[in-house]
Amino acid sequence: MNEILVLYYSRYGSTAEMAQCIARGIEAIPACQARIRTVPPVSSVCEATEDEIPAEGPPYAALEDLQECNGLALGSPTRFGNMAAPLKYFIDSTSSLWLSGALIGKPAAVFTSTSSLHGGQETTLTSMMLPLLHHGMLILGLPYSETELLTTQTGGTPYGPSHLAGSDSKLPLSTEEKNLCTALGKRIAETCAALDNS
Ligand SMILES: Cc1cc2nc3c(=O)[nH]c(=O)nc-3n(C[C@H](O)[C@H](O)[C@H](O)COP(=O)(O)O)c2cc1C
Repeated sequence: MNEILVLYYSRYGSTAEMAQCIARGIEAIPACQARIRTVPPVSSVCEATEDEIPAEGPPYAALEDLQECNGLALGSPTRFGNMAAPLKYFIDSTSSLWLSGALIGKPAAVFTSTSSLHGGQETTLTSMMLPLLHHGMLILGLPYSETELLTTQTGGTPYGPSHLAGSDSKLPLSTEEKNLCTALGKRIAETCAALDNS
């Protein structure tokens, strides 16, 4: 069984909805399973400690989730053209995995949600790839054989799926955005299966 970690932060729910579509794509591939995890918010005042299990939604990620899974889909809302601090905070805790080379050779991909169409989807996606490259992961995007990349009127990029959530962050995922999320999930799962690291 290939297990793929779908790890995201989401405040208003858009990135969480994308994560569900990606998980559906992963589980459409035989012998592939999604493990969905999130991260807690961080406090700007002092170190806040959360309960180990959130009140709702998927469990919080632990380093073991990254170590145990064969691949990764990493998602964050865009914050000033970059990933959100809670996700970066978690990534900054992964030094021991970097030292041991635990993530080298594992397929990985990224996804994001923004309020505005030109508000930094591509910059967020590419900046999320940087720590994954340091970890030696194999970065996957979306190929243009996914023709909805050419027809979408909202999100969807070759660097990874994206969503246009609108100024109140309430727009639902478009059909194209959903399909591109599913396509990415399938692509990670198929790559994991081809590499047969399980
Ligand atoms: C501090 C902050 C910074 C943000 N920066 C951007 C930005 O640079 N570009 C943009 O289009 N939207 C920006 N947004 C809007 C979020 O990206 C948008 O609400 C996102 O779709 C929410 O995703 P979620 O529903 O998963 O929380 C920002 C929101 C906050 C709170």
